[in-house]
Amino acid sequence: MKHVGAVPLADLANDGLVRLPYPPRDVLVALVEGAPTAIEDACNHAGASLATGPRKGSVVACPLHGYRFDLLSGDLLSPRRACPPQRRFDAVLVGDMVHVYDPFELALSHAGAVRVSQE
Ligand code: FES
Repeated sequence: MKHVGAVPLADLANDGLVRLPYPPRDVLVALVEGAPTAIEDACNHAGASLATGPRKGSVVACPLHGYRFDLLSGDLLSPRRACPPQRRFDAVLVGDMVHVYDPFELALSHAGAVRVSQE
């Protein structure tokens, strides 16, 4: 499992949304009822950054067209079936930092073959 990065817990206070660089689509990190969560930041509809959208509870709205996503599951809540869900990442609180991990890693071997690993 690849370590994507870490976000200070204080940056997530007051319903804060933080975009963690992870090219090409970055990761959106948040706290929902005190628990860390992370989903892909680039909206699956047309790529806007969800971290800049308005949030209400566990729901974030895309700033471009208003599609609403669940921060915990990455599921699209509305409009239904308009695009795939946002990919989820693992988020773990360690001390005063939220660490984010990519549970699905695609790597190229030295032989040029594609190797896929998932832990
Ligand atoms: S880019 Fe997010 S709803 Fe269109």
